[in-house]
Amino acid sequence: MDVVLPKIKITDPGDGLKFSFTPREIWFEIGFGNGDSLAAWHRENPDVGFVGCEPFINGFSNLCKLIADDDLSNIRIWNEIAQPLIDAFPDQSIARVYLLNPDPWHKKRHAKRRFIQQDMLTQLSRILKPGGMLLMTTDHADLGEWMLEQATMHPDFTGTASTTAPDGWLTTRYEGKGAKAGRTQKYLVFTKT
Ligand SMILES: C[S@@+](CC[C@H](N)C(=O)[O-])C[C@H]1O[C@@H](n2cnc3c(N)ncnc32)[C@H](O)[C@@H]1O
Repeated sequence: MDVVLPKIKITDPGDGLKFSFTPREIWFEIGFGNGDSLAAWHRENPDVGFVGCEPFINGFSNLCKLIADDDLSNIRIWNEIAQPLIDAFPDQSIARVYLLNPDPWHKKRHAKRRFIQQDMLTQLSRILKPGGMLLMTTDHADLGEWMLEQATMHPDFTGTASTTAPDGWLTTRYEGKGAKAGRTQKYLVFTKT
């Protein structure tokens, strides 16, 4: 973390999209956990700018380990909750938003704490380019229904849920654990209309 984090850390949300080159697109991951997907994507897509956020210290320290030997020019990290960063992103600046296995908040009275709500979808719509993608996954049945319902009822998004992973999908550690335990992963792929 001492070596890698200072090179990739976003210290001011307003500087979240500052890269040393002009990326072809920006892909944004919310709550990257241990960072396995982000590490693999940034390596495979050097012309894409990646912004990841994760408040969990063990998560971003693991990501630092995973990418320590990489070219770090296309990856930036915000090690706090996503909201201030989203607020600071310019309109129509992001091509893809990934939200993989967000916390389920499974008690009914806690549903308002779920990341995906109508207000949040409006904010994500603001930062996404027209035709931009919102990709969400979960193996929690209620949360899957909730995210599908929320995204379907929002006027700015169109899409579907499937139990088949999109082409080229990378399985996260969390997703792998769920599959071993016999849970079914849902993939929700939405486009900003
Ligand atoms: C169940 S874990 C999934 C991690 C990873 N996406 C995966 O699939 O393995 C949910 C993650 O979301 C992060 N998180 C929760 N609320 C967040 C927020 N408001 N902004 C960004 N990350 C958040 C948590 O710290 C946690 O690491």
